[in-house]
Amino acid sequence: MADSPINITSAFKAVDIQSFRNTTRDITFDVYLKISDDNIAHVFSKSTGLDYKRLAQYIHKGVKELFIKTEDVPAYEEFVARTADLIFNDSKTTQEKKIATLLNMTEQNMAEIFVQHNISEETAENTKKVVTNYVNLMMESPKTVAIILKLVSHGEYLYYHSIAVAIFSMFIAKASGQFNQRTLEIVGMGGFIHDIGTTQISKEISCSPMELTPAQWKEMRNHPKLGLQMIENTPNIPDEVRYIVYQHHEEPSGHGYPNGLHGPVIYYPAKIVSLADAFSALISKRPFRPAYTIEQAIHILQSETGKYDRELVKILASIFSKSDIGSRAA
Ligand SMILES: [Fe+2]
Repeated sequence: MADSPINITSAFKAVDIQSFRNTTRDITFDVYLKISDDNIAHVFSKSTGLDYKRLAQYIHKGVKELFIKTEDVPAYEEFVARTADLIFNDSKTTQEKKIATLLNMTEQNMAEIFVQHNISEETAENTKKVVTNYVNLMMESPKTVAIILKLVSHGEYLYYHSIAVAIFSMFIAKASGQFNQRTLEIVGMGGFIHDIGTTQISKEISCSPMELTPAQWKEMRNHPKLGLQMIENTPNIPDEVRYIVYQHHEEPSGHGYPNGLHGPVIYYPAKIVSLADAFSALISKRPFRPAYTIEQAIHILQSETGKYDRELVKILASIFSKSDIGSRAA
């Protein structure tokens, strides 16, 4: 939350809040927010860095400007010139710094996705950029992505889960041998935003530490439709991603929702995200149960006949039988 207000003097300069959207978290100056004509509050400090969720909330509430101290203008200009994208794509950037920067970009992107009621074009564009960067890292070295999973697994569940689903979906898609770079990105993007609809459902239900009641389940089952509505008017989200968001709870047996579609009619990438979603949930620690091991999780998925595509479950099992990603990601 904002610190106690202090008086505005000519010592402050207004800067565009959007200029913080594509940066990393580490600021070398303090940032302030104008609360009224004579009051300004210290909101981000150089010791703790930017807080992406709060930044996204300010933008969402219509804040246009933030303030910095006049003497910090050169530091600010240097900061905004080095965008996260530039740092990530610079050939001189070390692998470590690349991972840190990509996590920064992801976190900022997730924060935006989760505070918006409709995904804006800029956010959709950023999501694409982030997913492309994951695909590129994955092509360079699959182990890098395992390190990322390990790093984010301590964060907020919904945030970790979205990244994990995106990454597992891309792994399964790649292992199936049927996907090129573009389709991998579509699967990744679908994985990232598959559950955005849950942001429109009360936290009591979507984050409930207990089993849901039948009435709560009924509401929860609206999230694919709500998610689809959130991206309906965002032109730069490919239609394939819309199918993934809408169909990620359909099951080959026809017992899924929202439409009870049967196996052959369910969009193939949606089946991939559905499996990655279940897998990520099983290997995560939840308030009501401990995390399952990779082996246990795969066994559970294999035994739930009709819920997931059988061939895809085989592919998932084969990924973990021949790599050490499992032990790292758990
Ligand atoms: Fe879902």
